Amino acid sequence: MKLKVDSRPGPDTGETLVRFFTIAERASIPVAISESEWTAGPGATLMLHHERLLCVGLGDPGKLTTQTLRSAAGAAIRTLQKSGRSKIALDLRAYPKWIAAAAEGAFVAHYNFDDFKKTKSFVVQSLRLIVKERDLPAARKDARRGEIHGAGANLARQVGNQPGNLLYPETLAAECRRVARREKLSVTVLDEKQLERGGFGGLIAVGLGSKRPPRLIILRHEGGRRGEPPIALVGKAITFDTGGISIKAADKMDEMIFDKCGGMAVLGAMAGIARLKLERNVVGIIASAENMPSATAYRPGDIVKTYDGTYIEVINTDAEGRMVLADAIAYARKDCDAAAIIDLATLTGACVVALGEYAAGLWSTSEALRTALLAASEKSGERLWPMPLYDEYTDQIRSDVAALKNTGGRPGGACTAAAFLKAFAGETPWAHLDIAPVANIVKSRPDLSRGATGFGARLLIELVESWRGAI
Ligand code: BES
Ligand code: MN
Ligand code: ZN
Repeated sequence: MKLKVDSRPGPDTGETLVRFFTIAERASIPVAISESEWTAGPGATLMLHHERLLCVGLGDPGKLTTQTLRSAAGAAIRTLQKSGRSKIALDLRAYPKWIAAAAEGAFVAHYNFDDFKKTKSFVVQSLRLIVKERDLPAARKDARRGEIHGAGANLARQVGNQPGNLLYPETLAAECRRVARREKLSVTVLDEKQLERGGFGGLIAVGLGSKRPPRLIILRHEGGRRGEPPIALVGKAITFDTGGISIKAADKMDEMIFDKCGGMAVLGAMAGIARLKLERNVVGIIASAENMPSATAYRPGDIVKTYDGTYIEVINTDAEGRMVLADAIAYARKDCDAAAIIDLATLTGACVVALGEYAAGLWSTSEALRTALLAASEKSGERLWPMPLYDEYTDQIRSDVAALKNTGGRPGGACTAAAFLKAFAGETPWAHLDIAPVANIVKSRPDLSRGATGFGARLLIELVESWRGAI
């Protein structure tokens, strides 16, 4: 989809025009239509074929947010894509502040995972954003920003959607190298021998059950001063999570291809950060393994030494995310001199129980980092909800035979998982995002196709864009 921004209000030949209406503006559409036919509710579409016009609702004018327009633009694109319209124009003259959101929503909406489908989804050739003449220069910049944010999310989705037979730690590392070359990021991949020698006991333990060995992938963007401590973005990338010896039930196990989505958010964000040439140092650390049951798998009762020397008693091999993140977070703290560490992971089913499918959980040891993340959440439309880190959660995961055990029982399962990770961040300001609720959707939405959502990529780009250094 080729993006253009200009100030000619009329549609080009063959172009379908999209206009947005709040419920207060409902009556101003060019035809008489009853409210029951079209409510002008958020994302509600009405195609006027004669006018070659798609009307899209924005709902209550008092409740308009960036997300309303992002999602309405997305719904417009998906509607017109389905009916095979190759040229689209969005009339955004009334919304100069939300050009980036509209462009981003459009690009995210245009993506469908069809690699293995015989009939591919229709490709919209051109998207024209119509703005007022005087808003043109700013709108051009904003539209480009929106496209880059959208592309970051779509990269996370595209790799996130790949099945476990094709995408595993080695092929993920190869994919990261390709992205790094294209986006001019520097990249280091530690293979199983280097992980073994380096003492990455968590990653090694989880990877033991699989024929496909683990990898630690490190991507660097050096946009800041030389020697400026980087922001570390850490992602869980379990390419498939069977549960290991503590094997999962068959129901919905197929969805465990999305257990790499924390890592994918980091990959998508790093691509966007590089493309935007943000003036910060940022390191992306992706901890990747496949969690399988086998004769060589790690087992309940094992005691594992992590990268920082902490001993962990394994209670449940299905709590593998925290095992690999323990190493990755400790690596960010010890080897990267990180100014702050933010990890993203599809870590617990308990977080889905707590929040439903509507927000990721947020835990942080730093008030300033939490505030910055909540601000980025507001701007990106990717919802975060603050959760507690009481000392009692840490008491719950104390082991009789080692420093910590890898599960703390049913109560507060998402919080004990967060308390576990906290131990590896030490004094470095740290935040944890449990994205299990939002990493993938089973059914398409008006503005988003099914599969991996790319959650976190846009949020992290936004965070780095607004970073002022004082965390
Ligand atoms: N990847 C899962 C968490 C998950 C579950 C994500 C459902 C999305 C949907 C994680 O590795 C896991 O299995 N967690 C266990 C932890 C438990 C053993 C303490 C869980 O949530 O049951
Ligand atoms: Mn698991
Ligand atoms: Zn998992």
